[in-house]
Amino acid sequence: MKKVIIISASPRKGGNSDILCDKFLEGAAEAGHQTEKIFLREKDINYCMGCGYCNISGFNGCAKNDDMDGILDKMIEADVIVFATPIYFNTIAGQLKTFIDRIYAKYTKIVNKEFYYIMTAEEEGDKTIQYALGEFKGLLSYLNGAEEKGYLFAGGVTQKGDINDTEHVQRAYELGKTV
Ligand SMILES: Cc1cc2nc3c(=O)[nH]c(=O)nc-3n(C[C@H](O)[C@H](O)[C@H](O)COP(=O)(O)O)c2cc1C
Repeated sequence: MKKVIIISASPRKGGNSDILCDKFLEGAAEAGHQTEKIFLREKDINYCMGCGYCNISGFNGCAKNDDMDGILDKMIEADVIVFATPIYFNTIAGQLKTFIDRIYAKYTKIVNKEFYYIMTAEEEGDKTIQYALGEFKGLLSYLNGAEEKGYLFAGGVTQKGDINDTEHVQRAYELGKTV
């Protein structure tokens, strides 16, 4: 049994990537894993201020007192971490980048994790996600023992719920089952 957490970064609850998160977790739960979704829109997560408190504390926390510290502890305990984001201007959405920057406060403790990514966009084709994949690679290059296990890209979806008419819903479920 693995602990799986999914970071759902769309500002749209019930949006395309959020729906894929639920299907991924359904598959992972059926495969016998413990699952939890963290929906960033509902969390109080502020910008990294670059104050250096985390460097001084030995990467043991942040000077800011918001929801991030609790989420970082869940990431430290998890075996599998999934990032889900809409594609905005050819890369990850800003709310996910804000979240990723705040990982710095405890990043040395996030070790030996498996990572998956879920991305949705209006456009199709591999070029649409090249910069988003670069963002994730940038983060993982700092995390000891991080392993990129796979990703799901669903292009051709624009309005909230468009994803329901596509095969990507089943793909997300199947990917979750492979965890
Ligand atoms: C600010 C903004 C920027 C976007 N930029 C892109 C883009 O660069 N390429 C693209 O294919 N779709 C772009 N889209 C469309 C979304 O990626 C698409 O609607 C996606 O399905 C939204 O996922 P969600 O329902 O999970 O929020 C953009 C949408 C918004 C609101």
